Amino acid sequence: MRIGVIGAGQVGAALARLFVEAGHQVGIANSRGPETLRWLVDELGELLHPVAAQEAAGYGDLVVVAVPVGRYDELPTGGVPGRTVIDTGNYYPQRDGHLPALDADRTTSSELLQARLPDARVVKAFNAIRAHHLVEYGRQSSAMWRYGIPVSGDDPTAKRRVFDLVEQVGFEPVDAGGLADGGRRHQPGSPVYGVDLPGDELAARLARPVRAAPAGRWPDGSPPPS
Ligand SMILES: NC(=O)c1ccc[n+]([C@@H]2O[C@H](COP(=O)([O-])OP(=O)(O)OC[C@H]3O[C@@H](n4cnc5c(N)ncnc54)[C@H](OP(=O)(O)O)[C@@H]3O)[C@@H](O)[C@H]2O)c1
Repeated sequence: MRIGVIGAGQVGAALARLFVEAGHQVGIANSRGPETLRWLVDELGELLHPVAAQEAAGYGDLVVVAVPVGRYDELPTGGVPGRTVIDTGNYYPQRDGHLPALDADRTTSSELLQARLPDARVVKAFNAIRAHHLVEYGRQSSAMWRYGIPVSGDDPTAKRRVFDLVEQVGFEPVDAGGLADGGRRHQPGSPVYGVDLPGDELAARLARPVRAAPAGRWPDGSPPPS
């Protein structure tokens, strides 16, 4: 499969690594241009293709957004109509700048992304786990032991595709519901955020009531990602 990845930082590079290891072609972009991503080709090999953001948006009918939420309004709006877009984002006002609708919990960052990309089918996934754990645990997994990844979205077909991808890279997808309610269940401040658990335990935590989610720190008190 061909997968576009917009953002080549901690999460974008970690996911690109997992996708390449699963045999997929990856078109990946950052903000500074493909020539700055040769190092990643050196690491991951010929399945990794540095491209411009516009090209990553149309590289395949599955695209991952791995840029800070505060940069969503820079994302290319074109791309394959009806494509599945995976949102890995978490809102941190200290990094992203204050977005009043998110501060007031009137919406979620994934719904903001869906509004920016109306012809896409946004699914939130891979946001609640640290980037280096993605690589570490994806590699370590076996059919007997897999960490859970919460997945939320409104389109069942897109969600199914993301479930399949999550499984391919060594995790257990756990259905968190739709983009609005489900997205809140695995955003910063939620009971599952930054907590690495097998799928059944993650599902039990996802069922807990969600408090309003102040963007904060990881549950262990460490600072938020960059
Ligand atoms: N870090 C984690 O452990 C973690 C875990 C789960 C989810 N997340 C979430 O995932 C998102 C990305 O986090 P990160 O830690 O990967 O951030 P990061 O390391 O700072 O990387 C951000 C990437 O986005 C690129 N970018 C920014 N604006 C862009 C644009 N307009 N077009 C194309 N690329 C653009 C940057 O390009 P340049 O390099 O050229 O600046 C960089 O490659 C955030 O919402 C974060 O909260 C992070």
